[in-house]
Amino acid sequence: MKKMRTGVIGVGFIGAAHIEALRRLGYVEVVALAAARDAEKKAEALFVPKGYADYREMIDREALDAVHICTPNSMHYEMAMYAMEKGVSVLCEKPLTVTADEARKLRDYAREHSIVTCVNFNLRLNPQVVQMKEMVRAGDVGAIRSVHGSYLQDWLFYDTDYSWRLDPKLSGQSCAFADIGSHWIDMVETITGQKAVEVFADFETMHKTRKKPLKPIDTYSGMALHPEDYQEIPVNVEDYCTVLFHFDGGAKGVCTISQAYAGRKNQTIISLSGSKASLHWDSELGNELWMGRRETYNQQIVKDPSILYEETRKVISYPGGHTEGFPDTHKQNFAKFYQAVEAKDASVRDFATFEAGYREMLLCERICESAKTRQWVQIEAK
Ligand SMILES: NC(=O)c1ccc[n+]([C@@H]2O[C@H](COP(=O)([O-])OP(=O)(O)OC[C@H]3O[C@@H](n4cnc5c(N)ncnc54)[C@H](O)[C@@H]3O)[C@@H](O)[C@H]2O)c1
Repeated sequence: MKKMRTGVIGVGFIGAAHIEALRRLGYVEVVALAAARDAEKKAEALFVPKGYADYREMIDREALDAVHICTPNSMHYEMAMYAMEKGVSVLCEKPLTVTADEARKLRDYAREHSIVTCVNFNLRLNPQVVQMKEMVRAGDVGAIRSVHGSYLQDWLFYDTDYSWRLDPKLSGQSCAFADIGSHWIDMVETITGQKAVEVFADFETMHKTRKKPLKPIDTYSGMALHPEDYQEIPVNVEDYCTVLFHFDGGAKGVCTISQAYAGRKNQTIISLSGSKASLHWDSELGNELWMGRRETYNQQIVKDPSILYEETRKVISYPGGHTEGFPDTHKQNFAKFYQAVEAKDASVRDFATFEAGYREMLLCERICESAKTRQWVQIEAK
């Protein structure tokens, strides 16, 4: 593998995680970063050779093989388009954009110019998510009848909790679904091989007003403590939703997504009911997968490369008994992306490309429409 030159745009919570995961690959050098504030200081703190205040200057000067876009959602479109126009491969955080129309334009540009792209739906790469997909493909669970589950967090539990994700200008028209529901439905469509064809959504905003800090803060970086540091603002995006799905293969689905659920820090559950068996995966016990049967004992399938399917083994780096989780999923996703970058092969489909990014934005828009109109809404892709 040739040594790759990469730049990271935005180094809050996830940008720093990208840098760590890239370094674990060994063949990707993060040669520069771009940050809105204190770019040089951030570069120094993260041991990156150069920090740029303007991402365009970084792309123009650094002869990059790829950029990683790790900024708030509303900036993704302009940054991804700029990089692609300069012929640079793009790995963009999810959600790809703030509208389906923008996501479609990015997908179309990438297609027309054969640019290798990726949306960081990293949770697809959890070994047990891949194992579920392989078990469905192999017929181990039979025809899928239903899928249910949840994605729960609590970092928006108090009205003093605030993030740019609550500002539609930065986040888009959805908060909770776009942010974490998008991961849930991406995993479910990947595992089942079925696409949602219609949706019915119920949204709620637990705190109708919140205390917004008057200074910018990075996600999970802790809050300012004094009342004079806050401004009371109305909130118009959901921090809770339940969505019903009908899938093209006949399965029914339902998920509950909340970022204000006390005690659940980052828990995803996916439960599948098939005509032969059921599967249940809880990310808080992420290295274990439960298989339920009617006629015999149930099974607990542990993450051990020596007993799992071939495709699952490809996303495992450690032997059985050694836990792998969130940081590892980034490493595995980036490995697949950089293999495609090296091969200059934009047709590779074993990770989420801008096609998947467009798909999630389309679903998100239809889900928001359903929540507003209180009706089933068809997805129909353009
Ligand atoms: N895949 C995942 O599991 C995952 C997890 C967390 C966040 N995300 C996504 O990553 C993105 C960033 O989220 P986060 O939690 O890291 O947010 P964050 O607020 O912690 O960090 C965003 C950073 O972008 C910087 N920024 C803003 N404008 C910029 C500009 N013009 N140029 C350079 N930097 C700029 C901010 O200063 C901040 O440091 C979002 O799209 C989010 O949905 C994905």
